[in-house]
Amino acid sequence: SAAEKGGYDYFMLKEIAEQPKAVADTLLGRIDASGLLTLDEVRIPATVLREVDKIVIVACGTAFHAGMIAKYAIEHWTRIPCEVELASEFRYRDPILAPRTLVVAISQSGETMDTLMALRHAREQGSKVLAICNTNGSTIPRESDAVLYTHAGPEVAVASTKAFLTQVVACYLVALYLGQVRGTKWGDEILAVIRELSQISRQVEQVLETMEPVRELARSLKDKNTVLFLGRHVGYPVALEGALKLKELAYMHAEGFAAGELKHGPIALIEEDLPVVVVVPSPRGRSVLHDKIVSNIQEIRARGARTIVIAEEGDESVVPYADHLVRVPQTPTLLQPLVATVPLQVFACELATARGNEVDQPRNLAKSVTVE
Ligand code: G6P
Repeated sequence: SAAEKGGYDYFMLKEIAEQPKAVADTLLGRIDASGLLTLDEVRIPATVLREVDKIVIVACGTAFHAGMIAKYAIEHWTRIPCEVELASEFRYRDPILAPRTLVVAISQSGETMDTLMALRHAREQGSKVLAICNTNGSTIPRESDAVLYTHAGPEVAVASTKAFLTQVVACYLVALYLGQVRGTKWGDEILAVIRELSQISRQVEQVLETMEPVRELARSLKDKNTVLFLGRHVGYPVALEGALKLKELAYMHAEGFAAGELKHGPIALIEEDLPVVVVVPSPRGRSVLHDKIVSNIQEIRARGARTIVIAEEGDESVVPYADHLVRVPQTPTLLQPLVATVPLQVFACELATARGNEVDQPRNLAKSVTVE
């Protein structure tokens, strides 16, 4: 009913709008006044966490993209090698698992069969499993050694939005917590990141307030057949997520690529007026990456692409090459997915509506897939 949708036409719109609260709720009570993490709910003892020598993340769909982002943060902050794998592929390739391997299973519903089977396999091999889950008491957390709940609240729309943002936040909490427990690299950067994390909710709010031009752009592209997405570093999984949203909702051919791969194939797809969304990392920090992606934008534009550029406020270098420019607030690179994903959700939702699709219940999809 309209009341359940909180006055929005679709659950998806409501859930997109709830993201600032979802993010804030997921951080709530987990960082103390001195900036230390208090994840007592993670019942894996510190002694065990100190011994972990490999992390393997398993998940499906949107949760897999959260896992891809998490890998960058985990390896950077903890120096523990981290792999991320589609849950449906995992157990069939005889993965190397040991008691010192920590498996992180990410799932909004907690009922995805592929993810459940992956974690069962991991536990059979003696690995510890930590679930990141949005549904209290669901099967995946019940069968795991520990759980860190995301506090997104119930997500009804089939295409995941607020759960995704909270999964990324929860993964960062796990990464920072591992850093804290192990005493690795527990330096100024990590304290700064924790401070910045507490700003993210407000920054997501800011993004939501500036989405009208993105909706307009989406409507103008409703008769296109293909949209490509490019990103680098954590912007790469953001590009994949933007493409997934468009497939799920708008039933369009959409693909995400690592921008550095462009020259190894995808550039052949560029043709006159093809919309290409490019997620640009902050020019502060990893400026080499930033400059490389700006030259990618020039390359595709020279071949006729219609460039839709998502870039940080104050980044003037992209202005000459952006047919459409979407601004996101300044964040550290690792946190950028939390703001950069939001315009892509809005874009896909509006494009789907413009094409007359059922936004909350896309054809052929289920909210939770309980078969392998
Ligand atoms: C289904 C949904 C996706 C979701 C995926 C994983 O395919 O349509 O939106 O990302 O399952 O779901 P989970 O509940 O495990 O996060």
